[in-house]
Amino acid sequence: MFLKQEYNRYSPQDHETWSILFRRQRDTVVKSASAAYQDGYNKLAIDPDKIVQVETFNEVLRSYCGWTIRGVSGLVPNKEFFDMLINRQFPVTVFIRKREELDYAKQPDIFHDVIGHVPMLLNEVFVSFIVDFSRISRRYLHHPKAVDYLSRLYWFTLEMGLITEENKIKPYGGAIITSKDEINNIRSDISKKHQFDIWKLINTPIKLMIQTEYFIIQNYNQLFNSLKDLERILQEEFTPSPAV
Ligand SMILES: [Fe+2]
Repeated sequence: MFLKQEYNRYSPQDHETWSILFRRQRDTVVKSASAAYQDGYNKLAIDPDKIVQVETFNEVLRSYCGWTIRGVSGLVPNKEFFDMLINRQFPVTVFIRKREELDYAKQPDIFHDVIGHVPMLLNEVFVSFIVDFSRISRRYLHHPKAVDYLSRLYWFTLEMGLITEENKIKPYGGAIITSKDEINNIRSDISKKHQFDIWKLINTPIKLMIQTEYFIIQNYNQLFNSLKDLERILQEEFTPSPAV
């Protein structure tokens, strides 16, 4: 599961892939992303030309928010995943996508994980949401239906989350921020954008390709406060394991 980044194994073409993706996202997406995302992105001052080096990047990241990233080989099992988040460690796939996957990578890669998710780790309220969400989640992983609920909340926030800022809809979710197609999609009228409603959200199935539905928050406190409702819903339907 954990995989040490062997930096010398990236080829010049791998770094070039990073550079192409980075510049394309910076020019088109970053300008339209939420203020919290942009704030984190600007502070981190990530090198546009070279794939992030985990150890040196962690010194910068830790100094801003206490988080670190940790190399993994791919998707992390639920329990370990939430344990990492509780401990303020964000899993980052060490591989980078192939050149033919520039527009759509089937699996998360280091570009998606770092550029999509890490800047938001500098926002304290959002981090409180992630950590408390993870603590709650850890107690319900033995119920498949609860895992569906939890996966949907993760999906429609950390991956596909939208926020209203200055009367505009802006993405804070990493899967939108690292996808040209999703960015275009949120601007179209074809996709439905619901106001954030925790009950509706956890009952909306995940769609892996281009989204037909999104949920819009008004601010990050709303997200954090929704965890009380999430916990109540889970307690009513399932028996939690002891607190960890
Ligand atoms: Fe992601």
